[in-house]
Amino acid sequence: MSTLVLPTPNPDEPALSPPNPTASADQVCWLNGRFQALAHASVSVLDRGFLFGDGIYEVVPVYQGVAFRWAEHRARLRRSLAKVRLADPYTDEEWRALIDALIERHSWPDQFVYLQITRGVAKRDHAFPNPPVPPTVFAMTSPLVLPSAALLEHGVSAISLPDERWLHCDIKSVALLGNVLARQAAVDASAQECVMFRDGYLTEGSSSNLWVVRNETVYAPPRDHRILEGIRYGLMAELCEAQGLEFVVTPITRDDVIAADELLLSSATKEILPITRLDGQAVGHGASAGQPGPIGKRLLCAYQDAKRAAIARAATNQSAQS
Ligand code: PDD
Repeated sequence: MSTLVLPTPNPDEPALSPPNPTASADQVCWLNGRFQALAHASVSVLDRGFLFGDGIYEVVPVYQGVAFRWAEHRARLRRSLAKVRLADPYTDEEWRALIDALIERHSWPDQFVYLQITRGVAKRDHAFPNPPVPPTVFAMTSPLVLPSAALLEHGVSAISLPDERWLHCDIKSVALLGNVLARQAAVDASAQECVMFRDGYLTEGSSSNLWVVRNETVYAPPRDHRILEGIRYGLMAELCEAQGLEFVVTPITRDDVIAADELLLSSATKEILPITRLDGQAVGHGASAGQPGPIGKRLLCAYQDAKRAAIARAATNQSAQS
């Protein structure tokens, strides 16, 4: 017996969107050309992002009000749009003005800005709407809570999984079901991230890039269609160079991962974090196995220096302009 109650539709009832309980009262977002309260912002059920996962996104960390590596995030946003054949809704200047205004409207010093563009609202049909409809453009910001001191001290645990996602992982697509299932498998195993392998080679985590450290060398999986090229990928290469560490891009096998001195993950929201347990085994060798290693610590310090330098540069530019 069905218990579903179907009230008679009332055409005069205003179509109010239910408030989103996870948004705080003072959070605003940008949706389709205007700022509005995040708690009440809503999109149509016919939005292609909802129906097909037909859209792309970006996550940009903000430190002391400064969007870190914005130029690189902007460039990846442009690449993702081009790869899914979506027209760029804004110019560089418009994107910059939008995220600056969004950041300014919120008082948290450290934030992460989320940007999403979908192919818009149209009759449900797999092919692109013809003629095209305006894209849905959404931007919000949230407080950036960085990994705690305890997490950095102990590192995180991960499980290995076969990478069963599609073959365009280089696109920052909102169609993240494969990543969601992989992350949930890790959570179900009381781990924080997964370490995925495709055809025997390391790809990435559910929402992070992965790095193998061996003999003072940082090994990176090739940046191709099998992984998302994190904005921290290029940064990692720079940090290694500045630290006098070899940075080697090469296919990485499961044996390479098992033999690692250190295993690291990186992302906009996690920065650089050591993975200290993989499939229940301590990562590393000898007495220090299972503990964050020296290379990861050096790289995280260098990351903090890069943040401070970006904040200082932004302050100098601002004072030069005013
Ligand atoms: N995810 N690979 C995947 C699959 C990711 O989802 C992410 C980031 C990265 C790292 O990219 P970056 O250094 O640009 O953050 C790699 C973000 C944080 C997210 O989806 O929330």
